[in-house]
Amino acid sequence: MNVRVSPMPSQELPAFSSAEFRSAMRNVPGAVSIVTTGASPNRHGLTLTAGCSLSTDPSSVLVCVNKSAGGHDTIKGTGSFCWNILASGHDALAKRFSGQDGSKGDIRFDEVLWRKLVTGAPSLIDAVCSFDCRVTGAYDAGSHTIFVGEVVAQAMNADLEPLIYVRGDFAVPKRPDPSRH
Ligand SMILES: Cc1cc2nc3c(=O)[nH]c(=O)nc-3n(C[C@H](O)[C@H](O)[C@H](O)COP(=O)(O)O)c2cc1C
Repeated sequence: MNVRVSPMPSQELPAFSSAEFRSAMRNVPGAVSIVTTGASPNRHGLTLTAGCSLSTDPSSVLVCVNKSAGGHDTIKGTGSFCWNILASGHDALAKRFSGQDGSKGDIRFDEVLWRKLVTGAPSLIDAVCSFDCRVTGAYDAGSHTIFVGEVVAQAMNADLEPLIYVRGDFAVPKRPDPSRH
């Protein structure tokens, strides 16, 4: 076991580097999603694992978006985003929306795959689920902004398997064996 302790008080520099932090974080599995915002021909989308459910009353989620991401200012400007949870087989889409194929902005979107729910942010038709959100809070967090979104519409394909990202690779969790319950 590799234990690295940050000295107290917390104002001092931590005993681990940001590279070591990133190396530890590689072990944390995350649901792979695409956060979209804007309307054609000014749509933006980015692959994102830093998102989660926040509250059930009101129904809300949070997503952590790098300030340098193409969609960041459009989420602020439009006050809306759609959080699309990707399914098994969406690896290429996740790579496209993280810029790995060199694409940027609206060109990443394929008209066939997307629709609008309430806010107009693109909702992926074959996502495991999509949460269409109005931004209710934006919090500065260093390199990222934490956007809190109240869910105003949602769509679901519960038969699809969610895609996760862990240790630098895409994976699909096994469905629990029903005979164990
Ligand atoms: C698996 C994976 C997870 C990612 N998670 C996040 C994330 O949580 N937040 C974020 O801002 N960027 C994340 N990124 C990086 C963005 O997808 C990437 O920087 C994207 O190209 C930004 O959009 P842009 O090219 O329009 O600027 C992730 C990338 C990958 C491959």
